[in-house]
Amino acid sequence: MKNVTRRNFVRNSVTAGAAVTAMAASPAASASGGSPDARIKIVALSCSPRKGKSTAAALGVCLQTAGQVSDKIETELIELADFRINGNLAAGVSGPEGDQDDFPKLVPRLADPGVRGIIVGTPVYFGGMSSLCKAFLDRAIALWQDNFALSNKVAGVLACGGTRNGGQEVTIHAVQVSLFCQEMILVGNGRPGPRIGATIWSGAEGGVLKDEFGMTTAKALGRRVAEVALRVAGVS
Ligand SMILES: Cc1cc2nc3c(=O)[nH]c(=O)nc-3n(C[C@H](O)[C@H](O)[C@H](O)COP(=O)(O)O)c2cc1C
Repeated sequence: MKNVTRRNFVRNSVTAGAAVTAMAASPAASASGGSPDARIKIVALSCSPRKGKSTAAALGVCLQTAGQVSDKIETELIELADFRINGNLAAGVSGPEGDQDDFPKLVPRLADPGVRGIIVGTPVYFGGMSSLCKAFLDRAIALWQDNFALSNKVAGVLACGGTRNGGQEVTIHAVQVSLFCQEMILVGNGRPGPRIGATIWSGAEGGVLKDEFGMTTAKALGRRVAEVALRVAGVS
């Protein structure tokens, strides 16, 4: 296992570090800016290694609902299946995966002050998040170290399991803890039946989009993230 020097670690963590610092010179201020022309972007991040499957589909429902909240909102789905994320780099060691990964490509897309809300979606694996999700969350310490680049962005969490009560809520909670540490503003589903996030069942007959209860939670989460993102941005 190869040690990563401090200099390399910072470079690998945020190769686009200069760009991040320029874009998010004052993340707290930029995320709470009150310009009526502010860009309000909501990003959903699918942490399934299976591209385009149930987690991504459910996140698409979140984004569709978020986009309906205001015509000022734009949305984007990012699938981590397209990226190599080496969680070891968070600890300053490369491990067998080497000292380069694709995390720096994500940095400008997440740290952009126009991104006001991020919805993290993960499959449930043995009652917890996917290893890809954990690697990403650990790797995101680079954003924390770069002047809290995610600070004051709104966050919501979705978990998708193969069974109805397969551990979605504990999984959501575990992801939320990491996002709290990033100074993100966590929201749940809001009214009328407040829950901590979107709890999705991929085993529904006809596929995940036929999971009526889960879709209710996905829509509610998307709406809530959008509403709070608008409020934080000072846009009505
Ligand atoms: C290693 C592994 C462990 C799993 N553990 C659980 C589990 O604890 N609870 C559950 O409801 N589903 C579990 N599943 C099923 C997945 O959560 C389910 O297939 C989900 O739809 C995967 O998301 P995706 O379709 O976006 O890839 C597991 C799947 C795998 C591969």
